[in-house]
Amino acid sequence: MTLAFSIETSCDETSVAIVDDKGKILNQIIENQQVHNKFGGVVPEIASRAHLQILQRIIPLSFKRAKLNLNDIDIFCATCGPGLIGGLLVGSTIAKSMAVGINKPFYPVNHLEGHLMSPTLNNILKFPNLSILLTGGHTQIYFIKKPNDYKLLGETVDDAVGESFDKVAKLLSLSYPGGPEIEKFAQNGNFNAYDLPHPLKNKNNMNFSFSGIKTAVNLIVKNQNKITQKFKEDMAASFQNKIIEIIINKIERTIKMLKNKNINIADISIVGGVAANKALRNSLLNNDKINKYNIVYPPIEICGDNAAMIALVGLQKYKHKIKPDHLFNFKANPRLSIIESGSL
Ligand code: KG4
Ligand code: ZN
Repeated sequence: MTLAFSIETSCDETSVAIVDDKGKILNQIIENQQVHNKFGGVVPEIASRAHLQILQRIIPLSFKRAKLNLNDIDIFCATCGPGLIGGLLVGSTIAKSMAVGINKPFYPVNHLEGHLMSPTLNNILKFPNLSILLTGGHTQIYFIKKPNDYKLLGETVDDAVGESFDKVAKLLSLSYPGGPEIEKFAQNGNFNAYDLPHPLKNKNNMNFSFSGIKTAVNLIVKNQNKITQKFKEDMAASFQNKIIEIIINKIERTIKMLKNKNINIADISIVGGVAANKALRNSLLNNDKINKYNIVYPPIEICGDNAAMIALVGLQKYKHKIKPDHLFNFKANPRLSIIESGSL
């Protein structure tokens, strides 16, 4: 059995995990850095310091809870990008040092690949499949022929979908992160209350655009005399509904494009923090063009950032004998993108 120890520190979650090669999580700790809440967004410098402090506490705790020692670990993994450089350096330097200390391999892992592989924790993914990555920093559609074989079909040209949830929540004076707050307020709201734009609706590509919706919400907010609870609920519902409509429109377009090229897909996986949104899940389930496919998600607590998904990617590379970068060539990279090896 191969055991991986992993660290995720790309944004404001500090997480460590110990995972075996069957995908069983022997222990995982995810700590959300509450310190950013009062700023309404992540402050990079504060995040790096908090990662360092939290890791010093949760690494020994994780080993203790898993009843394991450092010497039991076969490979070490850490997120090396994309993300905030300070956090990436803290996490990857600690994981690398642990690997050097006991002479074991270190795998730098792409955060996005972690999200893409996260549904394998609770599903047997069939290939080829379509993966819709919905996070605070990215909104992308991938065609995945097999693990390590990714083709990017489309992405946002401006804000990421999670970012737009966070920005609209801020405009409505809701707390950070905005996604879960908007979802909560939307439950009691009227989704027809405000007519928001649908950017790139008729563009025949798989790209998204969200910044215009945020601007439209801002204009409506500015023209309100009073921001009542009812206004917040109706706006949250209208916004969330529009976002879901946009995501569904692009998934339908992608399915049609693949069909036209006679490419069959088995599953559609929805990953990243926004995949936790229950209204989105229900709408996908009720859509006749999409629910023909097996729609898969990671476990809900693994939709957001976590170290277990980083270990999964490291374990997969180890299994396929993909050599890790030489330790001393490795660089954390805030703008790292997935190496596209795939084709349609
Ligand atoms: O994947 P993630 O944890 O971090 C990044 O890699 O960015 O995603 C975080 C994003 C935040 O923007 C947050 O507001 C959003 O996911 N999010 C949600 C929900 N839970 C988290 N958005 C909509 N509905 C939710 N329930
Ligand atoms: Zn993420």
